[in-house]
Amino acid sequence: MDAKKIVRKALENKLVVPAFNIPHLPMLKPIAQAVLDENSVAMIQVARLEWEKFESESLERVAEEYAKYAKEGHTLLHLDHVPVIDEDHLEVDYLPIIQRAIKAGYQSVMVDASRLSLEGNIAATKSVADIAHAAGIPVEAELGAVMGHETEQAAIPYEEIFEKKMGFTTVEDATKFVRESDCDWLSVAVGSVHGAIAANLLDKKKPAAKLDIERIAELEKALDIPLVLHGGSGIENDYILKGIQAGIAKINVGTELRQPYERAMREKNDVEYARECVYKRCRELIRDFLHTAGDAEILAK
Ligand code: 13P
Ligand code: ZN
Repeated sequence: MDAKKIVRKALENKLVVPAFNIPHLPMLKPIAQAVLDENSVAMIQVARLEWEKFESESLERVAEEYAKYAKEGHTLLHLDHVPVIDEDHLEVDYLPIIQRAIKAGYQSVMVDASRLSLEGNIAATKSVADIAHAAGIPVEAELGAVMGHETEQAAIPYEEIFEKKMGFTTVEDATKFVRESDCDWLSVAVGSVHGAIAANLLDKKKPAAKLDIERIAELEKALDIPLVLHGGSGIENDYILKGIQAGIAKINVGTELRQPYERAMREKNDVEYARECVYKRCRELIRDFLHTAGDAEILAK
């Protein structure tokens, strides 16, 4: 399974590769099983904040769990957000994390330097691309501000952000960025919002986000690389489907599976029951929301 080829194939066929987050280790087993049972292809991923602020422990622990439950021909292991400046505005020593992920067998990695200037983002992404490419794996980068993780931006009403296209990725910046950073996939800010990580919002329904389909299409035309949509939970379904047609080839989904797991644990404190809830929701997402059931026939062949 070559992540770069699979995501490229998704783009060419106007399909999408979902990437499901693992904030709690027991979630991995039912997600991998759901992907197999829907005959889909998906990534299983963990972000740094999920081992720092949730319960996935470390990228190595996720890789160990992945080795137990991976489904050949259906699942891939991806390292999600490794921030250069994190959600608490602290500098992160990001290169050693990337090196650890390569050693642990991750098949693709993301560096998120989107809190830096354009030039800073290019330089940080390039430093990761050099290491990852030497190891034969692709790199995802982010340009623009996909909001939600940062507390201060939640103060601005979503409608205003969308109308004014605040923090959206521009074609001009993205063209320069992709040319100079050597990234393989680009996470773009086009209206989606990350599930909140503030304690009082953890279990709240996400505000329904919209997508600027026109901007996605313009970016795809100019860049000709697979685009990634973060904050995939809770977006109106029609937008998701149009976004995929316009160039989104990977979509990150976290909150949609984290919340059922945490609710089930609160309700019964029973890991197997919580896994069952994640399994059911994951199958629904694949079938009814992302429409990727059966995609293994095209993507993994
Ligand atoms: P959601 O939790 O909003 O689905 O976002 C997931 C994500 O973008 C992980 O990188
Ligand atoms: Zn994200």
